Amino acid sequence: MDLFLSSDGLISRIYASASAEQSEINRLFNYWLIMSAIILLIVGFMVIYGVYHYHEKRRPAEPKQIAGNRTLEILWTLIPLVTLAIFFVITLRIMKNIDRPFDKTDKPDIKVVAHQFWWEIHYTGEKFATANELHIPVKKTLLMQLTSSDVIHDWWVTELGRKMDAIPGRYNYNWIEADRTGSFKGTCGEYCGAEHAWMRILVIAENEDDFNRWKAHQSTDFQPGSDSLTISAVKLFQQKTCSNCHAIRGTTAHSFAGPDLTHLMTRQTLISGVFKNTPGNLKRWIRDPQRIKPGARMPNLMLNEHELQLITNLMEELK
Ligand code: CUA
Repeated sequence: MDLFLSSDGLISRIYASASAEQSEINRLFNYWLIMSAIILLIVGFMVIYGVYHYHEKRRPAEPKQIAGNRTLEILWTLIPLVTLAIFFVITLRIMKNIDRPFDKTDKPDIKVVAHQFWWEIHYTGEKFATANELHIPVKKTLLMQLTSSDVIHDWWVTELGRKMDAIPGRYNYNWIEADRTGSFKGTCGEYCGAEHAWMRILVIAENEDDFNRWKAHQSTDFQPGSDSLTISAVKLFQQKTCSNCHAIRGTTAHSFAGPDLTHLMTRQTLISGVFKNTPGNLKRWIRDPQRIKPGARMPNLMLNEHELQLITNLMEELK
């Protein structure tokens, strides 16, 4: 509930905008809203007027019956036709503004692969991958490439402009730019299965310096400690097949079927926004993923308490 009603909830964010594209979309929305309100008022007035004025009590005799009126028919065809034509042109112009073309030779800055039920994010030229949280430098237009590994998903961060489908076997492109720093919430906008509602996105727009620092840090590998606990935890990560899906760069785990965990602790949320990233929540998730997010790809690994603690501790090292 609080997602919808809180001060940063969805209702108050209908008009929120952090990009030129979204401001354009808001403008178009306003035009349509105003026109719809005017039509509603006119029709509503006519209905109420008709009901009142032609009520039996006031007009006991049957009113004059009219069949056909050319002038009226021309008018009620022309007025909607002209109105829609005007709106068609306005809509086309705004669509053109928010869908800037790009050169086929343009290299995407960001590559996003949607999965059931999380977002894999790559930066061109960088070896690291991150998940569900997209960092971007503020006031920079970036070209984003979207695809999917399974079913159709849809990238939708309301404050940053248009939605874009992520379709398996196909590449879609979208420009992304934030005109101020901040965190912008988004979600998957195309029904994609049981956990569609838990495919949240967080876009973090930051100053160029902060962004570069973040990027440099993400590129570093994990330096596993040489203590016996860490060593056995890394081993356990492999034995329990965690490494079949997850990477921890700096260890022998480098599968990218699931999110790259190398810097897991730098992310604000877990499981595409289900939980705040805390050790307690992490443990709950690893203990029984299907209870937390039924339908997610992560199986229950049947870890005992000791193993669970070891793996959780290892995750907490991934800063
Ligand atoms: Cu992915 Cu809905």
